[in-house]
Amino acid sequence: MKLSASDVRFSYGSTDVLKGVTIQEAVPGRITATIGPNAAGKTTFFKCIAGLLKPDGVISVDGRDLRSYSREEISRRVTYLPQESPVNAVLTVFEAVLLARKHTLSWRVTDEDLQSVTGVLEDLDIEDLSTRFLNELSGGQKQMVSIAQSLVREPEILLLDEPTSSLDLQRQLEVLDLVSRVTQERSIVTLISVHDLNQAARYAAQFVVMSQGVVYASGDAHEVLTPEMLRDVYGVNATVTPAHDGILQVTPLSSARRTKHLTEAAD
Ligand SMILES: Nc1ncnc2c1ncn2[C@@H]1O[C@H](COP(=O)(O)OP(=O)(O)OP(=O)(O)O)[C@@H](O)[C@H]1O
Ligand SMILES: [Mg+2]
Repeated sequence: MKLSASDVRFSYGSTDVLKGVTIQEAVPGRITATIGPNAAGKTTFFKCIAGLLKPDGVISVDGRDLRSYSREEISRRVTYLPQESPVNAVLTVFEAVLLARKHTLSWRVTDEDLQSVTGVLEDLDIEDLSTRFLNELSGGQKQMVSIAQSLVREPEILLLDEPTSSLDLQRQLEVLDLVSRVTQERSIVTLISVHDLNQAARYAAQFVVMSQGVVYASGDAHEVLTPEMLRDVYGVNATVTPAHDGILQVTPLSSARRTKHLTEAAD
């Protein structure tokens, strides 16, 4: 499974949001972090890959233009976890996760389906929530259910839009550890949008930095997480130093004036 994008453009009405997004092949088995400030276009780009928005340019899955896939094929191969999940239906957690797996036309529930749901709930350590109703869950519990729904579908491309934003510290690490493991074991192409750059540095092998609808930079942590990028893209003065385990650590110091490329991109 391969994923790439070439000159992807999208507008909401007359507002141009994606202005030519190009990413080289996202590597299967590794996490690619999509980072960038609010309104950079990350969610819009994910929705284009999930086939929910129809952009100009080419998104290519396994060397084939996404437009040549049927809706069923996209739904089977690509799973998109929205930034805000509407999980308010009157269903139990178990039912909701099972329903997420039944994306094919067959509604027959097999033993394999049931085992898969149980397995995911165990992996995420939320089996105690199985019989609880979704509308009675806390924000973080709902987010865990959404993650379970994404994983139980066994996608080939997994798009997680700020999957840990409502989770406590321990849950954040557990979820990202699990996503890393599953990504590697099943050789999934996983894209995660996150705002916590230190978390991204810990879990992602590749980065795509989006800013004002374009890709400002892409590459590994050392290529991308630089004081220049943080100033240009985030408007923040920061230091970037390797921690004791060698993983880069970003320490924000003060806010700064965003520099040149933003005015250029806005032109
Ligand atoms: N449905 C919509 N209709 C009109 N404009 C939209 C719509 N959705 C998003 N936008 C605009 O598109 C731009 C990019 O939004 P997007 O949600 O892709 O950003 P993002 O990078 O995911 O930001 P965040 O980090 O805040 O989630 C923003 O200016 C936003 O206001
Ligand atoms: Mg977003």
